Amino acid sequence: MATLIDWLGGWPGAVLLQRSGTAYLFVNAAHILGIGLLLGAILPLDLRLAAVLRASALPLIGPILIRTAACGLALALVTGFWLFTVKPGEYLGNTAFLIKLGLLALALGNIAFQHRGLKSALAGGEIGPRVRVLAMFSASLWLGVLVAGRWIGFL
Ligand code: HEM
Repeated sequence: MATLIDWLGGWPGAVLLQRSGTAYLFVNAAHILGIGLLLGAILPLDLRLAAVLRASALPLIGPILIRTAACGLALALVTGFWLFTVKPGEYLGNTAFLIKLGLLALALGNIAFQHRGLKSALAGGEIGPRVRVLAMFSASLWLGVLVAGRWIGFL
């Protein structure tokens, strides 16, 4: 494990961020952009599926929100892992970081469950209680990842 952590902390991308504050701020800004796209798309979609928001245009906006959230997730995962490699040992000892990864795993697992009921909802069909409950889970879990992510810097 120690070798893997040493290797991660020594790859050229990590060394670049360790030496260049400018490079670090761009990767951190890209992480925040990913988070903004992800939560900016997933929260309105989840609130609509949970019937908190009422808009009849779900078949129209649904696919756009899902694609935007997917792009944001990909960007947040890649830049997040890159930031992690700057000081991997330290982050693995950070409670907020470990809680964040746990919530992230649950949120990603929930996406798999959500997608198995979403097709009919996006086609304008009836939104059943299962889709509503999973949408509330999704919104709560992603907000949890957000707060845990910000909490990292406080520990
Ligand atoms: C995909 C959903 C993710 C969300 C919503 C998220 C959220 C956040 C937030 C809100 C911050 C604070 C940003 C700041 O104020 O500079 C942050 C920082 C960070 N995130 Fe993420 N993140 C995600 C994925 C990841 C992943 C997958 C990793 C690593 C495997 C990761 C590693 C980090 C690291 C290392 C920091 C910098 C912490 C610090 O030193 O302050 N993130 N994240």
